[in-house]
Formats: sequence, structure tokens, C-alpha cells
Amino acid sequence: MVQLDGKVALMTGASRGIGHDVARQLAEQGATVLISARDPQRAMAAAKELTDAGDVRALSVGLDVGDDASVASAAEAINGDPGRLDIMVNNAAAYVDWTEMASAADLAAARAVVDTNLFGPWRVSQALLPLLRESRHPRIVNVSSGAGSHGDQQFGLTRRGGAAASYGISKAAQNGLTSTLAAELSDTRILINAVCPGLTATWPGAEDMGARPIADGAASVVWAATLPDDGPSGGLFRDGEPLPW
Ligand SMILES: NC(=O)c1ccc[n+]([C@@H]2O[C@H](COP(=O)([O-])OP(=O)(O)OC[C@H]3O[C@@H](n4cnc5c(N)ncnc54)[C@H](OP(=O)(O)O)[C@@H]3O)[C@@H](O)[C@H]2O)c1
Repeated sequence: MVQLDGKVALMTGASRGIGHDVARQLAEQGATVLISARDPQRAMAAAKELTDAGDVRALSVGLDVGDDASVASAAEAINGDPGRLDIMVNNAAAYVDWTEMASAADLAAARAVVDTNLFGPWRVSQALLPLLRESRHPRIVNVSSGAGSHGDQQFGLTRRGGAAASYGISKAAQNGLTSTLAAELSDTRILINAVCPGLTATWPGAEDMGARPIADGAASVVWAATLPDDGPSGGLFRDGEPLPW
């Protein structure tokens, strides 16, 4: 377990699911975690849930990754308190549904998915890069999906008959953002990677489809958030192993 005492980690979309458990795991390793959610009350409740359950430090901030003003205001708040950022996990994501096919997709709904899953992490990265650059060991993790790759033999882009079109396309684009930003930042200390948590039980009935426990999906993300300085940058990984995309 990597010790993260003194470090600050921000998670987007962390009031539930994988984002919430990534926060729990990073907090248990000593980081101060910043739980963000669209609804500030839900962010606050999720932070309290962590501090009630253990001897950890958790703060909260309202942050809608699809809203320029919300992202700017969250960045301003984080710059003020705690005034540092070492780990940023772009976890928030949107999805239409499994039956959405590219040939007939409602493009307004598809655009909203792309805005959350691609422009969300892009927007949040732009806003918080100045603070991350001040960290000695900055890490960015874009929580992606095998659905946006050609490497996932079960749910990859060509493996699901075109289903969940905008989700897969947005995650492929998010992988592109990851490698492009990593190339730009290659002469900095920042390591940025995309991570697929694997099929993870964040909705009712998921276990019946073979989904794994939330803690296991979150651990795949935590791996990239706690990489050593000589770790990789610009890749897509699952459980610490490269996933072709
Ligand atoms: N679960 C899986 O099997 C699986 C597999 C592969 C990849 N992933 C990826 O893992 C990540 C987490 O998945 P999950 O299953 O934990 O998802 P989830 O339970 O559906 O949670 C998604 C989170 O994103 C938030 N969100 C949505 N739009 C947002 C916005 N505009 N601004 C801020 N937050 C927003 C939601 O907040 P609200 O509460 O406000 O709606 C929610 O907290 C996602 O990136 C997903 O694509 C999951």
C-alpha cells in the first residue's frame, strides 16, 4: 500500500459507485480526499460517510463536469482550501442506454454523453492543471472503459453489435485525450493514464452479469493514481495491465 499522507486527491462523480470507493481507498492510504458531485449536499453526505466510517480526511465540493462555471468555481474553491492537488481522478460519466445505436441515436442525448465523458475531464484538467503542476508527484486518472477500445474482447467497440454507441465513442475519445495530454505533459512530473475498472457492480443486478465488487473496480483506478515517478503515462490500463485501444 502506497502511503499518501499529506497528499490531496480529487474525484469527480464521487457520491456513489466506483468514484466513492476510489476516494475511500485513497483516504485509507492517508490522502485528504475531495469528494465532488453535481449536488453539493450529496458530496457533503458522501464525505461525511467516509469520515464517520474511519479515521480519514474527506472534504467536499460541488462540481458538474459539464458546466464551465461550476468547474471554475470548484477550481477556485480548491485553490483556496486545501490549496494543493496531487491526484485527480476524472471518474464522472454519462450513458444513454444499451439499446442506443449510432444509426438512430438521438444526437442531442449523444452530445450530452460526449460532453460529460470527453469534455468533462478535458474541462476539469484545464482548470486544475496549474495546481497539479505544483505537486511533486502529480497523477491524473481518466476513468475510461474497455467499451472505448478494440482490446476488450467482450464489450469493445466492435464486440457489442453497435450497442451503447455514444458511451463507447466518448470513451474512445477520452482515451485519445489521455494520450494527447500525456504527450504534451511528457516533460513535466505529471503522469496521466486512462483506466478501465472492468465490469463492476454499481447497479442492481450487475452481479448476475458477472460484474465484480466495487472495491475491485476501484482498485484498478487506485493503481494509476498511486504510480511511482517512473510509471507509465498516456496508456489505457485495467488492473495494472495495458489494454490495447
Ligand atoms: N460500472 C462499470 O461496470 C464500469 C465499467 C467500465 C467503466 N466504468 C466507468 O467507471 C466510472 C464510474 O462508473 P460507475 O459505474 O461508478 O458510475 P455510476 O454509479 O453511474 O456513477 C457515475 C457518477 O458520475 C456522476 N456524473 C454524471 N454526470 C456528471 C456530471 N456532469 N458532473 C459530475 N458528475 C457527474 C454521477 O453523479 P450523479 O449522482 O449526480 O448522477 C455519478 O456519481 C465511469 O467513468 C464509468 O464509465 C464503469
